Amino acid sequence: MLCRPFILFTMAAAFTSFCFWLFSCLSVISLARAEDPDQFIYNGFRDANLHLDGNAKIHPTGRLQLTNITKQLVGHAFHPSPINFNASSPSSVRSLSFSTNFVIAMVPELKSASGHGLAFVISQSTDFSRAEAVQYLGLFSATNNGNSANHIFAVEFDTIQSLDMKDIDNNHVGIDVNSVISNRSIPAAYFSNKERKNKSLNLISGDPIQVWIDYSDGEKLLNVTLAPTTSPKPYQPLLSTSIDLTGILLDTMYVGFSAATGTIANNKHYILGWSFNRSGQAQSLDISGLPKLPKVGGRTKTVLRLIMIIAAALLLLIITGATYVYRKKKYEEINEDWEKEYGPQRFSYKTLYKATKGFKDKQLLGSGGFGKVYKGTLPFSDEEIAVKKVSHESDQGMKEFVSEIVSMGRLRHRNLVRLRGYCRRKKELLLVYDYMANGSLDKFLFNDDNPNLNWSQRFQIIRGVADALLYLHEGWEQVVLHRDIKASNVLLDSNLNGRLGDFGLARLYDRDGDPQTTRLVGTLGYLDPELARTGKATETADVFAFGAFLLEVACGRKPFDPNLHPEDIFLVDLVGRCWKRGIILDASDPRLQGNYVVEEMEKVLKLGLLCSNSRPDLRPTIKEVEQYLVGNASLPDIHLDSAQNRPSSILETLSLDHSTETNTSMANNSESNCIISCSSSVERGVSLNSLSSTETVLRIGR
Ligand SMILES: Nc1ncnc2c1ncn2[C@@H]1O[C@H](COP(=O)(O)OP(=O)(O)OP(=O)(O)O)[C@@H](O)[C@H]1O
Ligand SMILES: *[C@@H]1O[C@H](CO)[C@@H](O)[C@H](O)[C@H]1NC(C)=O
Ligand SMILES: *[C@@H]1O[C@H](CO)[C@@H](O)[C@H](O)[C@H]1NC(C)=O
Ligand SMILES: *[C@@H]1O[C@H](CO)[C@@H](O)[C@H](O)[C@H]1NC(C)=O
Ligand SMILES: *[C@@H]1O[C@H](CO)[C@@H](O)[C@H](O)[C@H]1NC(C)=O
Ligand SMILES: *[C@@H]1O[C@H](CO)[C@@H](O)[C@H](O)[C@H]1NC(C)=O
Ligand SMILES: *[C@@H]1O[C@H](CO)[C@@H](O)[C@H](O)[C@H]1NC(C)=O
Ligand SMILES: [Mg+2]
Repeated sequence: MLCRPFILFTMAAAFTSFCFWLFSCLSVISLARAEDPDQFIYNGFRDANLHLDGNAKIHPTGRLQLTNITKQLVGHAFHPSPINFNASSPSSVRSLSFSTNFVIAMVPELKSASGHGLAFVISQSTDFSRAEAVQYLGLFSATNNGNSANHIFAVEFDTIQSLDMKDIDNNHVGIDVNSVISNRSIPAAYFSNKERKNKSLNLISGDPIQVWIDYSDGEKLLNVTLAPTTSPKPYQPLLSTSIDLTGILLDTMYVGFSAATGTIANNKHYILGWSFNRSGQAQSLDISGLPKLPKVGGRTKTVLRLIMIIAAALLLLIITGATYVYRKKKYEEINEDWEKEYGPQRFSYKTLYKATKGFKDKQLLGSGGFGKVYKGTLPFSDEEIAVKKVSHESDQGMKEFVSEIVSMGRLRHRNLVRLRGYCRRKKELLLVYDYMANGSLDKFLFNDDNPNLNWSQRFQIIRGVADALLYLHEGWEQVVLHRDIKASNVLLDSNLNGRLGDFGLARLYDRDGDPQTTRLVGTLGYLDPELARTGKATETADVFAFGAFLLEVACGRKPFDPNLHPEDIFLVDLVGRCWKRGIILDASDPRLQGNYVVEEMEKVLKLGLLCSNSRPDLRPTIKEVEQYLVGNASLPDIHLDSAQNRPSSILETLSLDHSTETNTSMANNSESNCIISCSSSVERGVSLNSLSSTETVLRIGR
C-alpha cells in the first residue's frame, strides 16, 4: 500500500527532470543563436570579454581606456572572436558590407597639445606586438607600413600632423589601407541637421564623439559620419568614398580599436560604447546609458576646485566676520551689570538706530546745549519718540545719573514729557522721550514762521507748566529739581498742551537732605544769581527760572537779549521799570495786540517779577504760584531791590564785563550754543573766582 505513491512520485520526478533537461538544451541553442558572431553591441564594456593588450584596460564603470597619457604607449581592444568576412560562405551574408557605430573620447593632457590618436581597425590578426606607437598609431611599424600583406583596414582619428605620414592637419579623419598614410583624409567635422551646414569638430575636446562607419559592398562605398553625442546622426556623412575592400578583408577578420601616444603631449583614449553588424545597420547606442568620462583634469582640477571653495568660504567668513564686527561696532553700547534692574527703561542702541533711521539729519528735530534731538519711530509699536543724544566724557557718576534718569522715568504727569528710557554708549548717552508733535514753545514765541499763540493758549500753557513744576517739587516722594526751565524746554503736544521736558539736567535730592552742591547749570537769563553765587540748586532757583519763563511768554521775547540796549538786555529789568511807572501792561507781547484778559496778563507779569526777586526767600513757592494762577488769592506786594540789579547780578557775580563788545561776543557764542567751562570763561574775561566748584558750567541762552 505504501509503494504506490512512492512509484508515482519517482515517475513524476523523472518527468520533471526530463522537462528541465529539454528546456536547458533549447535555451543553450537559443543562446548560441543570440551570440551571432557577426553582430554585437556594447553599451559600455563592463561585462565585455574583449581582447586587450598594451595599455588598454576596462574601468569598473565600463569605460574602455586604450591609453593613459604616458609617452609612447599603444593600446588595443578587439572583439574576442573573429568576424566572418567569407563572401562565399553560405551561412553568412554574401558580401563584405558592414556597419559599425561607436563613441570615442580623446582627453588631452593639455588643451592645446595632443597625441596621437586612435583608429577603428579591421585586421587579420590581433597580434600587434611589432606595431609602433606615435605616428604608426599602434597599427604599423616602419618596416611593414604600406605592406599589402598587412590586411589591415582602419579609420583613423588623428590628432597630430605627422608630415612623414602626409597628414593634412592635426584634427582629421583618415581611411587607411595597409598603411598609416591615408587613402583619404578629411578634417574632422559634422553636418548639423538643424543648421543645415557643416560644423568643425575638435577631436581632442575631451567630449565624447559618436562615429558611424558604413560600408556597402554592392556600391563599394564607405561612409564615415561623426557627430558630438549631443547631436543626432547627421543626414550627410563626413566622408563618402568609393573603396573596394575585396582582397583586403580576408575570410575572417578581427574588429577593434587601436590607439597610441606620442613623445610630447598625449591623450587619454577612450571608447565608451560600440555596436557592429555584418547583416544590417548597426544598432544605435544608448548614449545616455554609456559610461561617463572621468572629470576633466582629475586631481589637479579637484584640488583647484577645493582651493577655490576654501578661498570662497574663507572670504565669506571674513566678510561675515567683518560685517559682524562692523555691526557690533555700529550698534556698540555699554551695558553694565548694575543696569540689569533698569531693563524696561534700557533701550538697545540698535533699536534707537533703527527708530531714527540711523540718526539721519532728516530726523533731526533740533539741537541744544547738550546734544542733538532726533525724531524716531519705535519698530514694532510704531510709537513716535524723540531721542536726545548727549555726549559725555567720563563714566564718573554715570551710575548715579542713570538711576536718576530711571526714577524720573517713573514720573507721570499730563504736563510732563515722559522720559521713556535711555541707552548708553561710549562717550554718549541717549535719552528717549515721548515725541511732542508741536515742538517747543520757543518756536511759537520767537519764530514768525509759526502761528501766533493767543493769550488763552499761552495762559493754558503757563498753568500747565506750573502744574508740572509743582508735581516735580511736591508731588512725589522726592523733590525733583528741573534746573532748566525755559521756553525751549516746554514742548507742545498735538493739543498744544504745554509739557515740561528735559530732565536731562535735573538733579534729585532728598526732601530732608541738604541740597547738594553741584555744577552750575542753566541758561543765562533763567539762572538764579543766588545759584551762581552758592552753586547750590534749590527749588527757589526753579521758581526764578519759572519767573523768567512767565515774562517770556507774556512779553514774547527772551529773558536775555544781548543785542538790545544795555538797560533792556534783561527782560525783567524792562518789566520792572514798566511796573514802577504803573504801565506794566505795556510790556505785554505786541503780537497779542492787546487781545488778552487784563487781570491774567497783569497777574502773570507781576508773578514773573515776584519770582525773579534776587532774594530767594522773597520768591513765592511753586505752590503759592499755582494758587495765584488758578485761584483768586491776591498777589503780595512786589518789593524790588533798591539796587534793582537783580538779573544783572549774575553777571556781576561772575564779574562779567558789561561793555558792549563783550556782549556782542557773548551773543555770537550764544548762537553757537556754547558751554563756557571754567577755563574757557577765563579766557573770555569771565572770572568764576567766587565759585569753588570746578565743575561749573555756564550756558548762554539763545
Ligand atoms: N520730546 C520732544 N518732542 C519733539 N521735539 C523735541 C523734543 N525734545 C526736544 N525737541 C526739539 O529739539 C530741540 C532741541 O532740544 P534740546 O533739549 O536739545 O535743546 P534746548 O531745549 O534748546 O536746550 P537744552 O539743552 O537746554 O534743553 C528743541 O528745541 C525741540 O524743538
Ligand atoms: C599609464 O599606464 C601604465 C601602465 O599601466 C602605468 O605604468 C603608468 O603609470 C600610467 N601612467 C599614468 C600617467 O597614469
Ligand atoms: C569560405 O566559404 C567557402 C564556401 O563555403 C569555403 O569553401 C571556404 O573554405 C571558406 N573559407 C574559409 C576561410 O572559411
Ligand atoms: C589606397 O588603397 C589601395 C589599396 O586598396 C592602395 O593600393 C593605394 O595605393 C591607396 N591609395 C593612396 C592614395 O594611398
Ligand atoms: C559638408 O562637407 C562634405 C564633405 O566635405 C561636403 O561633401 C558637403 O558638401 C558639405 N556640406 C555643406 C552643406 O557644406
Ligand atoms: C553613404 O552616403 C551616401 C550619401 O549620403 C548615401 O547615398 C549612401 O546610401 C550611404 N551608404 C551607406 C552604406 O550608408
Ligand atoms: C544587425 O542588423 C539586423 C538587421 O537590421 C538587426 O536586426 C540587428 O539588430 C542588428 N544587430 C546589431 C547588433 O546591430
Ligand atoms: Mg531741551
